[in-house]
Amino acid sequence: MYSVNMGNDGDYDWEKEVEEFEKTKAGVKGLVDSGVVKIPRFFIDQSEKSSNVAQLQIPVIDFQELKTRRMEIVEEIRKASEIWGFFQMVNHGVPMSAMDAILEGTRKFHEQTKESKMEYYSTDMMRKVKFYTILGTLQKSHAASWRDAFSCTFTDDMLDPAAIPPVCRNEIAKYMKFMMKLRDTLSDLLSEALGLSRDFLRNKQFLKSESLSCLYYPACPEPEKTFGTEKHADPTILTVLVQDDTGGLQIHHENYWVDVPPIKGALIANIGSFMQLISNDKFKSVEHRVLARSIGTRVSSACFFYPSSDQILKPYGPLKELETPPVYREVSYLEFVTCHQKKLSEGTSTLVHFKI
Ligand code: OGA
Ligand code: NI
Repeated sequence: MYSVNMGNDGDYDWEKEVEEFEKTKAGVKGLVDSGVVKIPRFFIDQSEKSSNVAQLQIPVIDFQELKTRRMEIVEEIRKASEIWGFFQMVNHGVPMSAMDAILEGTRKFHEQTKESKMEYYSTDMMRKVKFYTILGTLQKSHAASWRDAFSCTFTDDMLDPAAIPPVCRNEIAKYMKFMMKLRDTLSDLLSEALGLSRDFLRNKQFLKSESLSCLYYPACPEPEKTFGTEKHADPTILTVLVQDDTGGLQIHHENYWVDVPPIKGALIANIGSFMQLISNDKFKSVEHRVLARSIGTRVSSACFFYPSSDQILKPYGPLKELETPPVYREVSYLEFVTCHQKKLSEGTSTLVHFKI
């Protein structure tokens, strides 16, 4: 039984409530299926949920005829990465069928019986294939997000397919092939947008490992009290996201929360904080969040790109090739992510921690 439902503050035991939730290994969907009408308190975040009053729109970049329009596209990516840290991509070469399939695979994984999902349930960050709501240890200062995640880590582009559950194995394997192809295109374009040689990021293997997060946002009985995803910045080099048509994703821009409207067939790219660091603040990693809602389930799939296994231990600071005075000290990606996890729970920025 959840102590939160006893209506007596004195009886409320935060740790116990989190522990009882974790023990079910059934995630947020398990709570919803059991018919909760009040959300457990460790999900509560009453922050302002208003969205943009200004008519701001994040850039949409058309990748059609990349060969002949390359300079123009590089320029659009540069501007979007400097000003917004986010852009939507259309005609990017990933077929609609693969995008539909990954969203369907995400739904299928989460809509299995809870017994089938349980064996993947883990809060251990190092596990390559895992089902979770809370990753690592939740801090009291930080609310949990009203969504479940299933994630698969491809180290240096590789993950044994047998490790992926059969219900979504083909969808994930196929989608990841397209993600790696798009990654090659994007790393070249981002290198050029930074004013570096086209193969710079590719040669350094800065986007050589991936973690695919298949996210499931069940309807919430008290959507105004929590978030689908708490505000955060991604500790990656780059993230590529596919969302369904329900909406709810917002990014923080000039003190507004700006909606990222679903566009059929589009993929969303966002600059990660480690990219902001190596680009010496040229490219921006921007905070974003997902609103919870009272009806309907939302699904999305986020592909996080980060350095190869032999690069994650090497210290990196702002790239010397950029020839700007460094504003960050050197840090390895591994140390950076570890710090990100800790800082997230304190509600402070990872990047500030490495400022010179
Ligand atoms: C994330 C994220 C957004 C979404 O998982 O880092 O920002 O739309 N997800 O699910
Ligand atoms: Ni994110």
